Amino acid sequence: MDEALRNTVLNMPKAELHIHIEGSLEPELIFALAERNKVALAYPSVEALRSAYAFTDLQSFLDIYYAGASVLLAEQDFYDMTMAYLQRAQADNVRHVELFFDPQTHTARGVAFADVINGIDRALQDARTKWQMSGLLIMCFLRHLSEEEAFATLEQALPHRDKFIGVGLDSSERGNPPEKFAGVFARCKELGLHLVAHAGEEGPPAYIRTALDVLQVERIDHGVACLQDPELVQRLARQQTALTVCPLSNIKLRVFDRMQDHNLAALLEAGIAATVNSDDPAYFGGYMNDNLVAAFEALPLNRDHARQLAHNSFAASFLPHEARESCLREVDAFFRQ
Ligand code: HPA
Ligand code: ZN
Repeated sequence: MDEALRNTVLNMPKAELHIHIEGSLEPELIFALAERNKVALAYPSVEALRSAYAFTDLQSFLDIYYAGASVLLAEQDFYDMTMAYLQRAQADNVRHVELFFDPQTHTARGVAFADVINGIDRALQDARTKWQMSGLLIMCFLRHLSEEEAFATLEQALPHRDKFIGVGLDSSERGNPPEKFAGVFARCKELGLHLVAHAGEEGPPAYIRTALDVLQVERIDHGVACLQDPELVQRLARQQTALTVCPLSNIKLRVFDRMQDHNLAALLEAGIAATVNSDDPAYFGGYMNDNLVAAFEALPLNRDHARQLAHNSFAASFLPHEARESCLREVDAFFRQ
């Protein structure tokens, strides 16, 4: 990639729509929180923990990701984790973030739902004041657990309805199809929540179809498996259903062997509203701009693709109309330079 394109990609205004806040927990912060909270870790040092980040598939990552999250106990821990991510995102010219959080990972350990959401929310408010950065929260249900447990989590969340704008579906994809959560997603839709789901990361294109048809989601997280199904590709392009693609995640979890094999450029060429995101930046080797640079270095992507990605990131966001239009104007102005 030439220097001009690199600068464009780094400096362009952008939104991040697929980041699990627990996946932003860096090993140094895991160790600091473990000490603060007197939690024992299975790894003797930061280096030992980091060297365990050699994943073979989604499940091998999730096992370590849930172990890392075990150091989060108090409201302040959730604040510190979120603030560290937002500061890092701000340095990458991220103007707006839509954060996933996994309450069940914490409530299962006896942490109060209120401490989780209040800590994250307080950091989002501070980022707005400090950097004029907007942030919205999406609560994910863990798909390896039951729909009944998802309903129970929704009940715990409802007193905090003003602090989150939507729900998502994450964790182990294979064997846990979207339709397992048809009832709870229907209830969330009645409540006026935005709906998204991970689908077609490791799972088949059929899961993307049921996420759309049964859950009625507005965006697909990952969705890279759609290229196996040409009719589905046409539909996603026609409907402009956004895919929140995570290039470094896909390489680390072996969805693609090498970045040169990633299908991001093919998705954009097919007219799909793809976006680039970091997923779990502390575990997958990079934040927003690292993902963009890695993809642009390896794939046939040019300045028009950069503009499209910046545009898509705001167009696919759940920002209120005025704020979204204002961000899209900022993208246009940046690319007129
Ligand atoms: N896929 C599914 N669940 C997750 C992921 C992911 O990439 N990251 C955190 N939870
Ligand atoms: Zn994800």
